[in-house]
Order: sequence, then structure tokens, then C-alpha cells
Amino acid sequence: MKFLPQLLSLALLTSCLTMTSCSSKKENESDDQKPGIEKTTYGQLPDGQTADLYTLRNAAGMTAQITNYGGIIVGLKTPDKDGKFEDVTLGQDSLSSYVKNNPYFGALIGRYGNRIAKGKFTLDGKTYDLFINNMGNHLHGGKVGFDKVLWTATPVEGDEPALKLAYTAKDGEEGYPGNLSVEVTYTLQKDNALKIDYKATTDKPTVVNLTNHTYFNLTGGAKRDILDHVVTLNADKLIAVDQTLIPTGELKPVAGTPFDFLKPSVVGSRINDSTDTQIKYGGGYDHGWVLNGSGDSLKLAATVYEPTSGRVMEVRTTEPAIQFYTGNFLDGSVTGREGFPYKKRYALCLETEHYPDSPNHPAFPTTELKPGQTYKSTTIYQFSTKK
Ligand code: BGC
Repeated sequence: MKFLPQLLSLALLTSCLTMTSCSSKKENESDDQKPGIEKTTYGQLPDGQTADLYTLRNAAGMTAQITNYGGIIVGLKTPDKDGKFEDVTLGQDSLSSYVKNNPYFGALIGRYGNRIAKGKFTLDGKTYDLFINNMGNHLHGGKVGFDKVLWTATPVEGDEPALKLAYTAKDGEEGYPGNLSVEVTYTLQKDNALKIDYKATTDKPTVVNLTNHTYFNLTGGAKRDILDHVVTLNADKLIAVDQTLIPTGELKPVAGTPFDFLKPSVVGSRINDSTDTQIKYGGGYDHGWVLNGSGDSLKLAATVYEPTSGRVMEVRTTEPAIQFYTGNFLDGSVTGREGFPYKKRYALCLETEHYPDSPNHPAFPTTELKPGQTYKSTTIYQFSTKK
């Protein structure tokens, strides 16, 4: 089983030497392989620990590659309207590149997704100080967030293969109270959907807001920026922010603003409308939208369509908000797996989560977790095509 991919590549190489159809075969190579999960060694971390790479494959040929370093989705190949499989995410070419400098490509984010103002919050009368790593604020769990730790991985075989990742954050880690035991399960479903289930428990009151930070570009292979992608967000209200992207507390109706994505809208059509203060503060879109519909059930949060490839991505979540970020801070300094620099707006992120800075906004849905409670959250990214 472990040597199967090598044997297949050897077979492919041999057929490449004798056949002319090699490249189209290679594009669709996932077609002839069985559903399941395969483990290979990804590399060694600076502290000597080994990180692994898991390839999940479904019967339709879709693959998801995930490493237990940061729970990072290293690759996600989905078919376009002609059945050509390509990667729809930004990613790096090796473990060492991820370790050196990763703007959260594909990574699990925790203990708290997005920002906490000035890295401070108060719980049960005690103030906690967190690491400041973004414009005077705390972002994505701090210096060594869940995106930079090694998770314990358990592969689960089946038609819908899954990877269970577990990590326990220590009491005091990055300044947060409580030992937090986290379990994240990635499942590659038959219907070309990647499901992410999050679970966490604590032994002291704490705050939790977990998400995944995959950067999507549905052209496949990040051929160009995402300004032509068409996005729909099921959200009437925006979580307004200040210059440092911290919520002001105002939930602003999107109607009549560049933030109205209730109907399918081209990303680039209003992204540079600098007459809008919120666009100015975000340098484009870098905001949380309050999702319509209440309760913990799965709801359609977002749809993305890329006209040239015909790819469609639907995002469903149990979370109350979604951070729509258009890669405004990408500046070409990170070279991706395609061997060229990922430039401004070469991807979009749809991070399902609670509102940023909730611990400092009692009116926002709570992110507190107490001993005896279980944090639970599910998000599904489903892929299809239309002509
Ligand atoms: C934030 C951005 C940030 C990006 C990468 C997003 O969730 O809102 O401001 O640049 O993550 O860190």
C-alpha cells in the first residue's frame, strides 16, 4: 500500500516514455485510483520531530493533501468543467517553506481565529495578556498558534477517508488560560466536499474560536488573481472595523455598500472603492460578515464561482460569521508550489468563525468555553462545476 504511489509513478514514467498522451493522463491521474488515505513522510521540523503528509482520495478522483504540521491543507485538487483536476489552493513546495514563512496558507487557526484587541481580555475578573503580532493586536493565536504545532494524526480509511488531528494547548500557552484539548477531523466526502469538524474541551474557563485559513483560487493552479471570481455571501450585515481591523461593535447593513454580496457579485467590481471607509481600512475585503440564519445548524454561507474553469465552491457552516479576506497583504514575497510569487489578491479566504474580538464585546455571540462544555463546529467546502 505504502509503495503503491511510487509504483504508479514508475508505471506512468514508463508509459510517458512510450506514449504521447502522457501529460493529459497525468492531469487526470487521480481518476484510476481507489478512495482511501495514504501516508508519506513530509519532512523534519527544526526540533527534530517528523511531520507526515496524508493524501485523502475519493472515488470521484478528488484529493486533499494534509500535513499534521499546523493541520495545513497542502493541496486540494478538484475537477474543472472539462474534468481536469487542478489545485484550487495556494500552497508551498516543502515543509521547510511552510516553517520558514507561511501567511497561514491552508492552516488550522487557534486558539482564537482573527484578532483580539491589544492582546487583552478579561474573564471572571482576571485580565489575560496575549502575544501582540499584528498592528498592536493579537492575531490568529499568537506567536506559535495552532498553525505552527505538530498535531497527532489518526487516519481513518473508507469511501469517505478522514484524518483526525489532536492537539492539547497548555494552560498559559500564548497567554490563554486552561489546558485545551482540540480535535479536528478532515473528511473527504463522496460528493467532492471537504468537511472540517472541530471539537474542544478545557479544564479552566477560556476563549476559543477555531477556523481554517485556506487561500482559494478556483482558476486551478493560481493562474491569475481572484478579481473575476463571483462571490455570494448570505449575510445582511458587516462587522465594521477600525483602522487596525478591530470591530467597533457596529454591525452595519451591507445594502448599498461594496459589501453587499447577497446577489452573486464579481469580487473586483467594488474592491477599490476608496470612498468607502471600511474598504479603505481593509485595503479591500478583510472583514467578518454576520451570517443570516440563527442556531447551530449548517447553513449556506458563501458560494464562489470562477467562470473560465466553471468551478463552484459552496461553503456551509454552523458558525455565526465568515471572514472574507481577498489576499490584500500578499505581496509576491512568498513563492508558491507553482514556482512563481503569489501576488496581491491571488486568492480569497472564507474563514468561518465567531466574530473577531468577541471576548471584548459582550454583545457578540460568546466565545467562552467552560469546563464540562464541549466546543463543536462544522464547516463544509463543497466543489462542483457549471458550464
Ligand atoms: C486576516 C487578515 C490577515 C490574514 C492573514 C485574515 O484572517 O483578517 O488581516 O492578513 O488573515 O494573516
